[in-house]
Amino acid sequence: MIVHSRPTLSEADAQAVARVVRSGWIAQGHEVEAFERELAAFVGQRDAVAVGSGSAALHLGLLALGVGPGADVIIPTYVCDALHHAVSHTGATAVLAGADAGTLSLEPDDVKRRLTARTKAIILPHAFGLAAGAEAFLAMGVPVIEDCAQAIGALDAGRPVGSRGALAVFSFYATKMLTTGEGGMVAGGDPALLARIRDLREYDERTDLSPRFNYKLTDLQAALGRSQLGRLPEFIGRRRAIAERYRQALAETACALPPDAAGGRHVYHRFVLGVEPPLPPLLERLEARGVQCRRPVFRPIHRALGWGPYPDADRLWDRSLSIPCYPSLTDADVQRVAEVLSDALERR
Ligand SMILES: Cc1ncc(COP(=O)(O)O)c(C=O)c1O
Repeated sequence: MIVHSRPTLSEADAQAVARVVRSGWIAQGHEVEAFERELAAFVGQRDAVAVGSGSAALHLGLLALGVGPGADVIIPTYVCDALHHAVSHTGATAVLAGADAGTLSLEPDDVKRRLTARTKAIILPHAFGLAAGAEAFLAMGVPVIEDCAQAIGALDAGRPVGSRGALAVFSFYATKMLTTGEGGMVAGGDPALLARIRDLREYDERTDLSPRFNYKLTDLQAALGRSQLGRLPEFIGRRRAIAERYRQALAETACALPPDAAGGRHVYHRFVLGVEPPLPPLLERLEARGVQCRRPVFRPIHRALGWGPYPDADRLWDRSLSIPCYPSLTDADVQRVAEVLSDALERR
């Protein structure tokens, strides 16, 4: 079976973690500090704070922006549940916005329609590796958290994703662009915001009892993250090469291909095709031939809440298919995926 997603790990990664084990200092320490500096430099932000997950990064980012009870935060409905949970944990209300069929992220006009005096933040995912066009959202007068969980390394109008929002969040879950097993980071340019996040991520030895968390990353994880970050350009190159192979192989089939990587805008965390519904029998047929594919979003959030209508998000959910696309696929795997997909999809 060619699985839908898998981490890309090396002997150098193992050595990096082993060095930390041998050092005897395994909790948050110098490796975490170095990882923070290196990631901030990579994404073009002044500073960054490492945390235990992308979810924790979102949670602390919102708290640092002063989001709490009585506030609204605009998020897409076509996204993973982590965004809704992070907003809920602050006591604020998540306002769901519709989907842009081109970026698979927020649609700017729909976001504008939902802005009110209560809106305290917008969370803008660069979905599935594609830069979402932050410019339109940055002009709305509300702090933007760029969610780069799936898109570190992509360029948005020539600048790294995550370099322009009030804050940017990252996830290092096992199958993300780079991994620490579980992990996350918040990057930003405002020292006061980052100081608040640093303060909230740990509770030890504080004179006051203001509620704080244990959201720390460990040096074990940071060592893996630094090793992975060093190879990120290589990972992105491989993802783009695989995507190009798929684009050529599927050009004559009846599917909508994802945007190309022009201007560095796509790093292909996912290679998402638009296909004719219904998806479940197609997923089963592909799996029966040894290629595991997935819907890129488990289900839009409005469906869990019974809200709507969100016709564009429903349409994406009905038609979007994510096929295996990650650096550790061999050329033979890629060839096999392309063949099985070409057979399964109608000709134009
Ligand atoms: C866009 C987006 N934001 C945030 C997260 C949450 O990250 P984590 O799983 O590290 O908590 C994810 C996870 O898949 C994600 O895809």
